[in-house]
Formats: sequence, C-alpha cells, structure tokens
Amino acid sequence: MRGILADEPDMVERLLDHIDRKTTDLSDGVWREPVAHYLSQARFAAEISQVFRKTATPFCPSAALPDTGCYVARDAALTPVVAVRGGDGKVRAFRNACRHRGVQLVDGAGCRKALTCRYHAWTYGLDGQLRGIPDEHGFPGVDKAAYGLVPVQCEENNGMVFITQDGADVRDGAAAWLPDIFGPDWRLFTTAEQEFAANWKIVAEGFLEGYHIRSTHHDTFFPLQYDNINVVEAFGRNSRISFPYRRIEKLRKVPPAERKTSGMLTHVYHLFPNVMVATFPTNVIMTVLEPLAVDRTGIVTYTLSNLTGDEEGRAAIAQGRDFVALGAAEDRDMACAAQRGLAARANDVLTFGLFEGAIRHFHRNLQDLIGDPVGDLMEA
Ligand code: FES
Ligand SMILES: [Fe+2]
Repeated sequence: MRGILADEPDMVERLLDHIDRKTTDLSDGVWREPVAHYLSQARFAAEISQVFRKTATPFCPSAALPDTGCYVARDAALTPVVAVRGGDGKVRAFRNACRHRGVQLVDGAGCRKALTCRYHAWTYGLDGQLRGIPDEHGFPGVDKAAYGLVPVQCEENNGMVFITQDGADVRDGAAAWLPDIFGPDWRLFTTAEQEFAANWKIVAEGFLEGYHIRSTHHDTFFPLQYDNINVVEAFGRNSRISFPYRRIEKLRKVPPAERKTSGMLTHVYHLFPNVMVATFPTNVIMTVLEPLAVDRTGIVTYTLSNLTGDEEGRAAIAQGRDFVALGAAEDRDMACAAQRGLAARANDVLTFGLFEGAIRHFHRNLQDLIGDPVGDLMEA
C-alpha cells in the first residue's frame, strides 16, 4: 500500500488498469487474526483503554452541530460524552455527567441555550462552566469555578469533531492525515442508530474489502460496480479503499489529466479505529462503530450531502441513502453470521488474504497499540 493518497487522474488510471487486467491491489501477505481477539473480555478491555480512549476518534460530523448551542450526546468507548458548539463557534466536548450527583445531562441531539440538569437544575454554560445552583446557600464552600463540566480533548478538523478521552495529543490521530471530505456547504441530512450482535472489529472488516461484492451484494451493489477490483491505500493508521462503478468506463474517453472520480466510485475512508466515511453520488455517509460489549456494536450513521435542500435534491439524497442501506443490511447480516460462527470453535484464527490488505493494516495497528500476546489474554 502507498503512503499518500492518489489524486483523481492517478486513481482512475489505476482502476481502469485493474479492470483491463482483471486484477486488484494486493497486500504484501496473508494475515491470521486469533479468534480469541473477537471473544476475549481482556482484549476488549484493552481495545477500549489502550486504543479507543487514547486515539483521536471522530465523534460526529461538524454539520451535526450547525449553530450555537447544538449538541450531540452519545457513548464513546463506553463513556457518555457530549459535544456542544459554544457562543464563540468553538466545539467543546465534556464527560456527560452533572457535577452535583452525577446525572447524565443530555441525551441524543438538539440545541439549547444552556445545559440544565433535569434533577436539581444546576445549570452549565455552553463552555461547561457551572453558572447556577438553585438555593446556592445549601452548598457552602462549593466553588462554582471548580465544578464545571469535565472537559474531553476536542478538535474540529476536516468537517468532523474529534475527541481524545485520555492523554494523547488529539492531532496524533486521523485528523492530521485527512484529505478534504466535507466542505463548509455540507449539511446533515439524517442520523440513524442501530445495534448488532457482533464484535466491532467484525463489523469494521465488512467495510474494508471488495472481495464480497458479487457474493454478498449480488442484487444491490454488484449490478453497478465491480467485484474484487479495488485500490487500497494506507495513510497513517487509516486507510482508503476505492470501489469503482461500472460507469467509470466512460472516463476512457476523457483525457487522463481531466478525469474526475465523483460519481464514478465509492471511497471508503477507514478512520482508525472505528469510523468509516463512504462517498456516494448524492451523499457521504459517516458510520461510527461503537463497541458496547465484546459481542455487541452500536452503529451511528450520519448521512450528509452538499446537494440543495429543494424537494428534488432531498429526494435524490434519500434515494441514495436508502439504496446504500440495503447493501449495508447485507453487510450487517454477514457480520452477525461471522460472530455466530465464532462459537462453532472451528477456527483458531481467521485468515485474511491478499485482497484484504486494509484489514491487515487495521489489525496490525491494533496489535502495535495493544501488544499483548494472545496467550496472556486467554489466561486473563
Ligand atoms: S444531579 Fe444534577 S442537579 Fe442534582
Ligand atoms: Fe459490503
């Protein structure tokens, strides 16, 4: 895999070349991932503490926080977090708990002038400062300045809000490497949340190769795109897998330097560890895979578009989103079946071949960060 992302003419050239030769990008070796890594509580705990909480992970798109006071609250790495846009335009993130008796402050998404706890109405500003305690004389010695919401490192970058829960510099993660995906004219169209009975890594793997297009997506994606023809690139711990549509053939008539990829392929950006950003003709879908338990994953799907919001534009966005959802449901079926198959105890390792290089990159990075040999984990 190359270290920098191909530009549009280069990408088209590489894909047309693969189509001509009936080839695809190959990784430099087969990867064998221990099945224990999908079942072990100890490994799951290590992923949460050593990977998720120490990595700058995309939390939501900037477009989910369009105005002052808009917030998104959800669990990230088993931690309730709220991100909110302040009066100064800056997005801040906080641990989502009142400083009085710890009640979770907000749920879901919305817009507010201040964050007021439902229990006893302590009120926090959008900057997290504790502004008001009803009947404050009942709390002698409580210094409001020391009772603000507990901040989480937060940075807006390339149209996404990144958070880092523990320690590391937020810029060490995906943010430093990202190409422009969401410009200022991108708007949030819809948000959807689901839960599935599969380890989060199995769900992630379903996004990271094109070797299953014909067999899994026979009546959805396969009529429009090729099976097992992809360009696979790594950037930092992240990767980009490009899936050409059959209509890319039209670009053969276009001079190479003028070839544009829009409408001709899907890029799937894997933002390590748990976010997928996939480009489609009428929208871009940002999918957050949230580990809930070793065998359970929450999936938050943000559909964004830069098409106009008139009736025709909205219908096109909805149609594109609903079509992709059909294919996504097929992927989730496979993920749940793969999870169930683990219980058969047929495999000690799962084998990822040369077409599955982005998955190899993913597991190699997890291994680098966690480092524990599986033997130790099995005994833990
Ligand atoms: S727990 Fe929030 S005000 Fe009492
Ligand atoms: Fe798929």
